[in-house]
Amino acid sequence: MMGTVILGTGSSLPKRIMTNKDLEVIVDTDDEWIFSRTGIRNRRIGGAGEKTHQIAADAGRKALEMAGILPEELDLVVVGTISSHMLMPSCACFVQKELGAVNAFAYDINAACSGFIYGMDMADKYIRSENQKKILVIGAETLSGRLNWKDRNTCILFGDGAGAAVFGHSNDSTRGVVGSNLHSDGRLWRLLHMHTAPSTNPDLEVPDNPGAHIIMEGREVFKYAVKAMEDSVCALLKQENISMDSIKLFIPHQANIRILKNLLERLQFPEEKVFVNVSDYGNTSAASVPIALDEANRQGLFARGDTILLCSFGGGFTWGASLIKW
Ligand SMILES: CC(C)(COP(=O)(O)OP(=O)(O)OC[C@H]1O[C@@H](n2cnc3c(N)ncnc32)[C@H](O)[C@@H]1OP(=O)(O)O)[C@@H](O)C(=O)NCCC(=O)NCCS
Repeated sequence: MMGTVILGTGSSLPKRIMTNKDLEVIVDTDDEWIFSRTGIRNRRIGGAGEKTHQIAADAGRKALEMAGILPEELDLVVVGTISSHMLMPSCACFVQKELGAVNAFAYDINAACSGFIYGMDMADKYIRSENQKKILVIGAETLSGRLNWKDRNTCILFGDGAGAAVFGHSNDSTRGVVGSNLHSDGRLWRLLHMHTAPSTNPDLEVPDNPGAHIIMEGREVFKYAVKAMEDSVCALLKQENISMDSIKLFIPHQANIRILKNLLERLQFPEEKVFVNVSDYGNTSAASVPIALDEANRQGLFARGDTILLCSFGGGFTWGASLIKW
């Protein structure tokens, strides 16, 4: 039985660091409020040469380098993003061009913060059905361009960045993507959403379109996020008959330290086996899980055969969990 393995990971972060202190001069907030409510101290903000597809390509390049694979060998490039600089072409097509992945087809996934986990599940399914495929899955965002910088409820939470993984097949049945448990609930869209630019067809225009920036009801999102991630992690472990104890490292979506702490408490999962970098980057949406995966990988926090648990939650709502045997 053939499996889908991760051959390399990479990440890319814009150079500019925005601290909580910097935010104090933009909106009515302070470092203590932000840190105690979210665990965030810093976030990165994209600048010239750091558009979504550019940092996505940079992360992809590093993942390819680690995998020892040339861009021409890629069959598919998938980018999870909600903040590409254009609606068409896709961010993935721009990444393909930047990398010179001339033999690949390319498309985006719009699943907000769950974009990487959804992409990973698709890569697994492609590879299992056509085992020669080599697939680059990226989560990349520049949400700094999609925030209302006058809204202190949202602008303090998000940051820019990109993370990537190259997937391929392995004949070693003891390794690879074990499975996923994915969900969406479009009925709850209003709680976390972002409009596009106003429509040029007045009949299709959204009344009082507030503009293309994130709108969120924080308290409600918090409650759903904790419960949804708890449910999908438990369902996945049951589905794959894997015990909580056998997990070497848990890499959850880095939205907020209080969401994470609540989740760990409900799961009764030990904090020391959880990878956390939210204080440095804030919530980077689709990029958060692959950036954390790459950092944990480069720090040598897991080895061949270890079981890694990933999970995410985002606008849509979308959420899910995945298991990998490294
Ligand atoms: C956003 C969040 C940190 C707000 O924390 P909270 O404890 O729920 O705070 P509330 O929204 O109830 O607001 C409490 C007060 O703080 C104020 N406040 C909001 N943002 C503030 C800020 N950045 N600085 C200072 N005060 C702020 C509010 O205006 C409110 O004041 P009021 O009582 O005078 O009206 C929290 O709800 C949260 O983490 N939600 C999940 C968000 C998330 O992770 N989204 C992405 C998921 S993928």
